[in-house]
Parts: sequence; C-alpha cells; structure tokens
Amino acid sequence: MKVAVMGYGTVGSGVVEVIESHESVIKKRTGGDILEVSHILDLRDFPDDKHQALFTKDFNDILNDEEVSVVAETMGGVNPAYDFTMKLIKAGKSVVTSNKELVAQKGLELLRAAKEHGVNYLFEASVGGGIPIIRPMDQCLAANNIIGLAGILNGTTNFILTKMIEDGMTFEDALKLAQDNGYAEKDPTADIEGFDACRKVCILASLAFGKHVYPNQVATEGITNITLEDVSYTASVGGVIKLLGQIRYFDEDKISAFVSPAVVFSGSQLANVNGVFNAILVRGDAVGDVCFYGPGAGKLPTASAVVADMVDAAKHTKRRKIFGWDEGSENYVVDHKAVLKNPFYVRAKASEGEIKKLFGEVKFLKRIGQPSDEVAFITDAMTENELKTKLENTDTINTIRVTDY
Ligand code: HSE
Repeated sequence: MKVAVMGYGTVGSGVVEVIESHESVIKKRTGGDILEVSHILDLRDFPDDKHQALFTKDFNDILNDEEVSVVAETMGGVNPAYDFTMKLIKAGKSVVTSNKELVAQKGLELLRAAKEHGVNYLFEASVGGGIPIIRPMDQCLAANNIIGLAGILNGTTNFILTKMIEDGMTFEDALKLAQDNGYAEKDPTADIEGFDACRKVCILASLAFGKHVYPNQVATEGITNITLEDVSYTASVGGVIKLLGQIRYFDEDKISAFVSPAVVFSGSQLANVNGVFNAILVRGDAVGDVCFYGPGAGKLPTASAVVADMVDAAKHTKRRKIFGWDEGSENYVVDHKAVLKNPFYVRAKASEGEIKKLFGEVKFLKRIGQPSDEVAFITDAMTENELKTKLENTDTINTIRVTDY
C-alpha cells in the first residue's frame, strides 16, 4: 500500500526509517501488505538524504495521487497541517498524526470529517510519544467511569527536572542537553512553559469524558520558576518536583484540567518516572489506578506510535476505528484553584513563628545553606485560593501543589 509522509523533521524521518527497517513485521501485522512511502512532503532540501526521488514541495502531489490511501502528518503546528489534513480526509484518505497541537485545537472537526468521509484520523503518537495510551483508554478501559488522570506528559521538562534533582544541574544546562538530544520542540517555550503538556491534557480529557477541551480552557504553568532550592527542600522529605497535567471528573458538565509543577511523594507511581520518560496514571472506578509508562519523546519511540497507526489505518480501509468526542462548552472546565483541595509546598521569607500563626502546626523542611530568614513547609489540604489569602501579607518565594495521584 502506498503511503505518504508530510514533514521530514525528527518524527517524520523516524517514520520513514521505521517503515523501511521493519518491513517484515509490518507485513505480518497488516496481513500481507507492506507500506511503501511514495511521497515525502517538506519545503526544506535534504541533499544528503537517500530518498531524493520521494521528496516533493507540492502537497497536491499527495492529494491527487489516488494510490496513496494513508498519510502520516508529522509537520506540527495548526497551519497548514489542518488545511492539508482536512483536504486529505475529504479526498478519502486516512491520516495519522503526532501533532498534538492540531488534535487539541481541531480534533473535533477532523474526527467529524473522518466519520463523514468513512476514513480514519488516528493520533496515538500525540500523547506520550511511544506509550500506548489512546487505544488503551478508549478500548481497554471502556468499562470504567474515569475519575481522574495525572500525567508526566512532556519529556523535555521531565528530563530537565531529573537533571536538576539527580545531578544538581542548572535549568539552562539541562535544557541545552535536552535540545541536543532532540527532545525539545523547535521553540522550547512550548515545553518549559507547559503548552505542550497542556495540549496533551486537552486530548486526554476530551477522550476520557467525551467533550472537547481546548487549550485556552486549561490553566497552564511551566517549570521556569522551579529552582535548585525548591528541589532540595522537597527532596528532604522524599518528594520530587514534576510537571504534571491533572484532570478530574466532577460530573457530566464539570471537570478540572490544569498543568503545573507538583510535588510528588515517593509512594506515587509517578515519583520514579525520570529523564525523557512519560507516564500517564488513569484512575478508573472499576480498575483502580493504572499507569502507562515509556519513552515520551524522541525520534524512534514517536515514530513507533505513528507507524502503528499507519498499520491500523492500512488494515481498516473499509472500516472505521471509532474515536471521537462531542462539542465542549465554555464553563465545562472549572477553576481548579477554587475547588481542588491539596496540601501545598511553600517557600517564603518569614520566621517559623509567623508561619505557625497563619497555618498552625506544619511540617517545616530544611536544606543545606538555608538562610536564617527563609522557611519552607508543607501545609494541610486547602484550595489554592485559600492559600493565596493566607499568604497575602507574607513575602512568598514559591508555592507548589502536592498531588494526590
Ligand atoms: N517536546 C515534546 C516532549 C516531544 O519533550 O515531550 C513529544 O511530544
């Protein structure tokens, strides 16, 4: 079967590589067909690449080739990926993607169009890189009411935080290393400010609860305020700081969904997820907590998920895989700061006496080199708004939610 790849960056070149290097296993999985890459779309030139005969800069070469029935979109970004994907779907071609930004923004329209035109739009690689999570959630956990999810959803930030925690490396050095390893997005802002994790939260929440959640509904905070001092204080009580996407179901019309740094204690399944690895913990009412763990970024792990979707699409040319969700609504995602009660880590310029007056007995944390006018402590469970009110007149340096996942 002829297939095409749009976008020949880290993931797209990995897709071509996996298709070529895994021909025999792909043939077994499709039931006899091989995937033959007939076009690679990219505006850049790759003079040293062996696939010169396959490159095109013209999208119409793919759109108008009737023999191409499955296309991998690994371009990233909403435009022109949305326009291309919609045209391909309308032309009766299945599209698979690793493009979380597009699925988070336009998934509803694209899934509806795929349904209407009897083709598949698959996006296993859009969350968790190589980790199987979309199908397991949609199919294997189908009997559960999902109560909540929490995930380490960004490999770059997890890599950076791990380097800070384990090696005392500075944020800047760790980011540079992540970029050199090919984990970071083109613009690392999307990783370190939490936007990439936010898009993945949108996809997971939409899939788990059946209503589209858009990025602008998900409060998002990245890791740029996390310092080695915060890392030391939390480590003194067996905690690690992770960038978490957290989602909770309240009822049909109400969920919370947000991305922020979180203190994770050693009993959690998420505490030992290190380096570029991702993990998604799904809490179901029948199954309990299940955790999906694996490489969340990188060329071949992400390509592994994209090619698996291509195989699935190739096997289901006459039948649709049913993935989808409905329209969301403006007030569907509530303000988690007003409703979710958790303990908080707080670091402030204050005395222990001043803190006790505000919070009563709390657990104070210690670190080597701690200035005499600095305190760090863990509060009792409260909402973030209550915490802010209590700290109104305190010179606060940082606050981080302690997760209950
Ligand atoms: N930049 C992303 C990450 C790539 O670091 O997780 C995978 O989405």
